[in-house]
Amino acid sequence: MKQDLLTFSDWTPDALHSLLELALTMKQSPAAYANVLAGKSVAAVFEKPSLRTRVSFDIGINKLGGHMVYLDCQAGKLAGREDAVDMAANLACWADAIVARVFSHQTLEQFASAAKVPVVNALCDKYHPCQALADYLTLYETFGQVKGLTLAYVGDGNNVTHSLLLAGALLGCNQVVVTPPGHEADPAIVAKATTIGQATGASIVQTTQISDAAGADALYTDTWLSMGDDTPLTTIKEKFMPYQVNEDMMAITGAKYVLHCQPAHRDLEITGSLIDSSKSLLMLEAENRMHGQNAILTHLLGA
Ligand code: CP
Ligand code: NVA
Repeated sequence: MKQDLLTFSDWTPDALHSLLELALTMKQSPAAYANVLAGKSVAAVFEKPSLRTRVSFDIGINKLGGHMVYLDCQAGKLAGREDAVDMAANLACWADAIVARVFSHQTLEQFASAAKVPVVNALCDKYHPCQALADYLTLYETFGQVKGLTLAYVGDGNNVTHSLLLAGALLGCNQVVVTPPGHEADPAIVAKATTIGQATGASIVQTTQISDAAGADALYTDTWLSMGDDTPLTTIKEKFMPYQVNEDMMAITGAKYVLHCQPAHRDLEITGSLIDSSKSLLMLEAENRMHGQNAILTHLLGA
């Protein structure tokens, strides 16, 4: 039976550990995997803009001997032209997998139900699993382990936060989510991560206090306004500015490293000087997007 990757919520700790190990092995031994997708084609549907996800999937698939077709829904020619189920069923007639970046998670569920091939979530309103895998690969390489680390996410509780929570809990990584009041992560996802964490030893804390991030090994932040959110920056800036990840926050918390999925907004959610500092893992995360996704496709396509 085909498997999709829409969220990590239904994965076991062992399965995610294996995927992380596969990503690391594939990164270290690229020649051994140069043909695992030979003759395979991936259709990539993007309802929203992308730099990292689009390019890392395309180049990554190419490095595995496969081929990616990019479908641009932003131009408006595809969006709304037919139902999601029909689009997915058609794509599955030719493609061996579908990668999709969509506004609504429900669209991914429709894709997955209608397509006879694996569907990979390349970001939706609720999750960004490919990002989380790259981030834990980055922490794994940097610290030599993920289990027992503490990651403190500071900023808007969003799709990136949710996937970090679920994947982190599965991997035994303690999570502190620090948001302004009213911008907390989805309580149902926090609850799910807490339940997973009870089995893996990961603690999950949702708070509005920066001081709760003291002792974290690494801080993580993301944009205050996700794609599709047209709230004017001026109306939220005052609320979020105390949560800016900067040198002072690194010193107060004692965190050694900083992560950000990017695109980053210099001197808003993170200072430009911190992005450019030796504490920044941003480019390693970006690099690892490709290795994580290559492992996902290799796993899902049984290559
Ligand atoms: N981090 C990330 O998903 O970047 P893009 O939006 O550029 O793909
Ligand atoms: N939370 C951001 C992530 C971008 C990669 C967004 O959804 O726009």
